[in-house]
Amino acid sequence: MPIQPTEKIWHNGTLIPWEKAQIHVMSHVVHYGSSVFEGVRAYTQGDKAGVFRLREHMQRFIDSAKIYRMPLDYSLDELCQAVVEVIEANGVAPCYIRPIAFRGYGEIGVNPLKSPVDIYIANFPWGKYMPGHGGADVCISSWNRLAPNTMPSLAKAGSNYMNSQLIRMEAEINGYAEGIALDVNGYLSEGSGENLFLVRDGKLFTTPLANSVLSGITRASIIEIARDMNLEIVEQALPRELIYICDEAFFTGTAAEVTPLRSVDRILIGDGNMGPITTKIHDEFFALVNGKKADRYNWLTPVNVKVEEAVGA
Ligand SMILES: Cc1ncc(COP(=O)(O)O)c(C=O)c1O
Repeated sequence: MPIQPTEKIWHNGTLIPWEKAQIHVMSHVVHYGSSVFEGVRAYTQGDKAGVFRLREHMQRFIDSAKIYRMPLDYSLDELCQAVVEVIEANGVAPCYIRPIAFRGYGEIGVNPLKSPVDIYIANFPWGKYMPGHGGADVCISSWNRLAPNTMPSLAKAGSNYMNSQLIRMEAEINGYAEGIALDVNGYLSEGSGENLFLVRDGKLFTTPLANSVLSGITRASIIEIARDMNLEIVEQALPRELIYICDEAFFTGTAAEVTPLRSVDRILIGDGNMGPITTKIHDEFFALVNGKKADRYNWLTPVNVKVEEAVGA
């Protein structure tokens, strides 16, 4: 879906016009992928709007920058405030928020330390990323996820998404909605932009951080919701074939939210319909973010905007 421009983008502490948010072709990031970023959603709750787990997202942003020795010069509170400021300036909710920090125009050598760090935060309307209740038909990718001690999976870095692009392109070209990558040892890892959950015999399984996954904030939220439902949660290395014989499977992510899987490599998951545990978790997640239930986890940061219909939702 093409991006729908809004009016303002936050840049290093000030709001600038959307069309002025441009960089030079010789910026370090263009050549070497030296960026870290976040993807955040703001939901509406009736006539109110709130950003989902803003602090956790901005903390991960800070962590990603720390791994890459990228000074951000803004505190967690200031970055959270910047997100609120740009949403309120643009007056768009629900929306997707994209904070990004990168090495800008300076030196062209590989070492990024002498190139300046630029931070931008944009927001824009965005609807569903993947099929909802019908379930997604996905495949196991021929590409592996990042090997340990190569590209750090816990950093949400732009360069990691070259691997994600290979996974996603291959899947779509072959007629699937998404690909699931295995790690270098052949264990289940994650989708190109989603964490993975399986249900078998009433237990909830998810792949641990050591299997080259991003530490998803939706993943952490679903674990918390499931724990409160007294579900047994198992975080352990999962063999590929477990996904073919599980009862239910779903993706989680800021973009994908909670997306049930209908089939993997054309093998139906269960009877192909969204199963009871996925349904319970899915409905609870949306009840919380859409304000149908009280925000008992304090996951929503209020923003003061006039609420509009989601585009494409
Ligand atoms: C590779 C990858 N894994 C998992 C996720 C899910 O993370 P989150 O729930 O924080 O959006 C994302 C999306 O950000 C991702 O890009």
